[in-house]
Amino acid sequence: MKILTIGGSGFLGYYLTKNLTLHNYDTNFTFSQNPVPNLDGFQLDITNKKNVLELISKLEPEIVIHTPALTVDICENDHNLADLIHVEGIKNIIESCKLLSSKLVYVSTTYVFDNSKKKFYEDDMPTPGNYYGKTKLDAENLVKKSELSYLIVRTDQPYFWAQKWHHKNSVLRVLDTLKKGQILNEVKDWFSVPTYVPDFVNALESLLALDKTGIYHLTGPDFINRFDWSLMVAEIFGLDKNLIHPINSSTLNLPAKRFSINVDNQKIFNETGIKMRGIKESLVDMHSKDLSYPS
Ligand SMILES: NC(=O)c1ccc[n+]([C@@H]2O[C@H](COP(=O)([O-])OP(=O)(O)OC[C@H]3O[C@@H](n4cnc5c(N)ncnc54)[C@H](OP(=O)(O)O)[C@@H]3O)[C@@H](O)[C@H]2O)c1
Repeated sequence: MKILTIGGSGFLGYYLTKNLTLHNYDTNFTFSQNPVPNLDGFQLDITNKKNVLELISKLEPEIVIHTPALTVDICENDHNLADLIHVEGIKNIIESCKLLSSKLVYVSTTYVFDNSKKKFYEDDMPTPGNYYGKTKLDAENLVKKSELSYLIVRTDQPYFWAQKWHHKNSVLRVLDTLKKGQILNEVKDWFSVPTYVPDFVNALESLLALDKTGIYHLTGPDFINRFDWSLMVAEIFGLDKNLIHPINSSTLNLPAKRFSINVDNQKIFNETGIKMRGIKESLVDMHSKDLSYPS
């Protein structure tokens, strides 16, 4: 099966592509600013419609996995850029997929919700609370309306070892800070459902193998605040917990509102048998692996 990952140099795209290649899928990937050392990717800007059409027509993928996105704060500070990358970008990808009837996988976020409910299910009405969430939802809706076969996979706080050009995920930030013996201020009032990347890629591969369509929450099962999560990282990696200090998010003055969003992730288990592991089990597994994963 021919699969093209748009944004295969990014954190999730990199591990998705690596995992699918290892399992004998015929994979290609694109990058924007960061070519992946020793791998032949295709440079692509998703806002350049002509280049998107040309590349997808040339590669003829049966499945296109779309990962590019901006950060929550960049979206809040620059609505036009968020519209361009999240909304215009997916329009170009959809148009190209239509030419070949490729299946489209859209990597989305729990931020299509806010904290207006205790727990959100896949078929709940989205209620985004910031501009990032709004534009990710706009893109979800375009994918749904496209008449393509599609998967929308929503995730949250993915963590694992990363390549040097990747942004620091929460666990790596904790490890870096504590290993340097520095104080780490962590918020106690933001809860999330952190997602272990090896489980995310495994679950998505399974959805593709079973030719599933629709929306799935590919997140971890633990609803936890940043402070408690960091304490668990320190414990499993044998680092000094006393360096971690609790703070309140109101002291951070970040541009975009953050929400404590809990989502249900039973559907992926019920339909594929894949269990998204909890934080403790995942951190123990991460501790035992290194950058060569999956090898
Ligand atoms: N990370 C999180 O905390 C998180 C949480 C929930 C949901 N998600 C969702 O998961 C997806 C992947 O996130 P991630 O953390 O893996 O992102 P990431 O590491 O920032 O990777 C983004 C990828 O998109 C590429 N890209 C950026 N701008 C592009 C453009 N104009 N045209 C083409 N490609 C472009 C990047 O290329 P270069 O690196 O080569 O420039 C990179 O390959 C996103 O859709 C995000 O909304 C992420």
